[in-house]
Amino acid sequence: MKKAKSKDRILILGASGFLGGALYRELCHYYNTFGTFFTPTKELEKNHHFFHYDLEHDDLIEIIEAVKPSIIISALRGEFSSQIIAHSHLAEYARLHKTRVIFLSSANVFDAYSKYPSYEFDTTLSNSVYGHLKIKIENMLIKRLSKKQVTILRMPMVFGGTSPRLQEIRTSLKEKTPIEIFPNLIMNVTNESRVTQQVHYIINRKKYGIYHLGSKDLVHHDDFIKEIVTTLNHQKPIFKHVYTTNDDRYLAVLPKENKLPKHLQLYSQEIIEELEI
Ligand SMILES: NC(=O)c1ccc[n+]([C@@H]2O[C@H](COP(=O)([O-])OP(=O)(O)OC[C@H]3O[C@@H](n4cnc5c(N)ncnc54)[C@H](OP(=O)(O)O)[C@@H]3O)[C@@H](O)[C@H]2O)c1
Repeated sequence: MKKAKSKDRILILGASGFLGGALYRELCHYYNTFGTFFTPTKELEKNHHFFHYDLEHDDLIEIIEAVKPSIIISALRGEFSSQIIAHSHLAEYARLHKTRVIFLSSANVFDAYSKYPSYEFDTTLSNSVYGHLKIKIENMLIKRLSKKQVTILRMPMVFGGTSPRLQEIRTSLKEKTPIEIFPNLIMNVTNESRVTQQVHYIINRKKYGIYHLGSKDLVHHDDFIKEIVTTLNHQKPIFKHVYTTNDDRYLAVLPKENKLPKHLQLYSQEIIEELEI
């Protein structure tokens, strides 16, 4: 018997991208799911669940009003000041219509702290333009919307079979160009299959607040990349060691307050194992 779809209508901003696409493929079987794309393809243009959206020129509200979503997931990239304006319009719409907003944020909101991993309610502080952007949008959503309307998902680097990071490594191996490794960087990691399961659970259980979606264990960037290369069965990789500081530097988001159930947590080794399949 076919399972009835939930009444929730989901709009994924950036559904043509790596994570937005993975989320679309996971959620579309259970929810009425819609998405935006920026780079046109014949397939997306024909798909009635997809809308063309250029955040520098288009009015996001027109798309939101056409879809009337109960949940909006933001998985966008693009020019930073336009992202801020788009999210400000999005927040205003969500406030008026009581729409839930799920924002894909990043471990970079803590990239100014290097001595420890970071937890959900640590104060954010960034040295990077990207980190600043994420902090600004996080704060805007938290300030303008009610507590139960906002879910912030802070992710470390996402690896996995279809990730651009993996594709880059495969290309470097094929073209015999150097793969950058950061020996001083201690991080946690995740992959797209675990992120989509986590987001599905968060939607289904109406969870809100800040979630840190990194692996339970920490890894050195160089060790992890080398392990991936070994898994890809490559004999003569070229590595370029990049030292940004003399000391170890942490870029890791760990959960303390908002923990997901055990089966949705992961260890970095599971990412490697999934690549082996
Ligand atoms: N991947 C990671 O390791 C990682 C880690 C932490 C956080 N995040 C966050 O997760 C989110 C998704 O990341 P991702 O890796 O999936 O990115 P991605 O693959 O580059 O996808 C970005 C999406 O944004 C769309 N987009 C780009 N420029 C646009 C524009 N000018 N107007 C409208 N849409 C535009 C793209 O459309 P087209 O593809 O159609 O051009 C695509 O759908 C981002 O907010 C990112 O900061 C990612």
